[in-house]
Amino acid sequence: MITIALTVNGEPTEVAFAPYKTLLEVLREDLNLCGTKHGCELGECGACAVLLDDQPVLSCLVLGVDCGDRAVTTVEGLATDGRLHPLQETFADLGAAQCGYCTPGFLVTAKALLDEHPRPTRDQIREALSGNLCRCTGYQQIFEAVEAAIVSDADARLKPSRYEERNDRSAKASAERQVVIHERSAKASAERQIAIEGRSAKASAERQDRS
Ligand code: FES
Ligand code: FES
Repeated sequence: MITIALTVNGEPTEVAFAPYKTLLEVLREDLNLCGTKHGCELGECGACAVLLDDQPVLSCLVLGVDCGDRAVTTVEGLATDGRLHPLQETFADLGAAQCGYCTPGFLVTAKALLDEHPRPTRDQIREALSGNLCRCTGYQQIFEAVEAAIVSDADARLKPSRYEERNDRSAKASAERQVVIHERSAKASAERQIAIEGRSAKASAERQDRS
C-alpha cells in the first residue's frame, strides 16, 4: 500500500491504496466517489473524465500515485453550497442526460471548457467534448445544454436557483402548516376551557340546590 495526500473536491484528503491502481480505481474503490464511471478503461469513451488541477483527464489512464499534492475535481464536487452547477441544471432540463452513464464525464469536461472559455462557440464545444461518447442522446441535447449553461451562468446572479426556489416553497408550506396547527390547538384549548367552566358552573349550581 501507498499513501498520498491530495485535494479532492476542495477537501484536503489522505488515501492509502495499492500502488498499481489508476486514479479511477482510487476514486471509486478507496474514496467511495462512484460518480466517476468505469467505461472502456482504454482512454476511448470519456466516462471516467475528472479534472486534475482544473484540466480534464481520463482517470482510467492516470496512476493514483501520480496524484500526490494535486487537486482532483469529480462530478460530486460540481455543486456548491447546495446549488447545482448551471451545467447540471441545463443537462437535466434539456434531456442531455438519459441513461446518465456518460453524464459525469461530460459535465466535468464541459465545466473545464466554460472555466477557460466562458462563451465558447458550438465548434469549440464540439471539439472540447469530442473525447466523450454518448450512446443515448445523439449529442445535440448535450451541445444545447452546454450553450444554455452559458446563459444560465450569466443569469445566475439575477434569479434564484431551482434549489433555492424549492427551499422557499418548502419554508412557506411549513410556515402555513405551523399557523394551521397553532390555530387548531388554540381553538381546541378554548373549547376545553369552555367545557371545564360549564361543568364547574353546573356542579356549583347543583351543590347550591342541594344545600
Ligand atoms: S473508462 Fe476511461 S476513457 Fe473509457
Ligand atoms: S446518456 Fe446514456 S450514454 Fe449518454
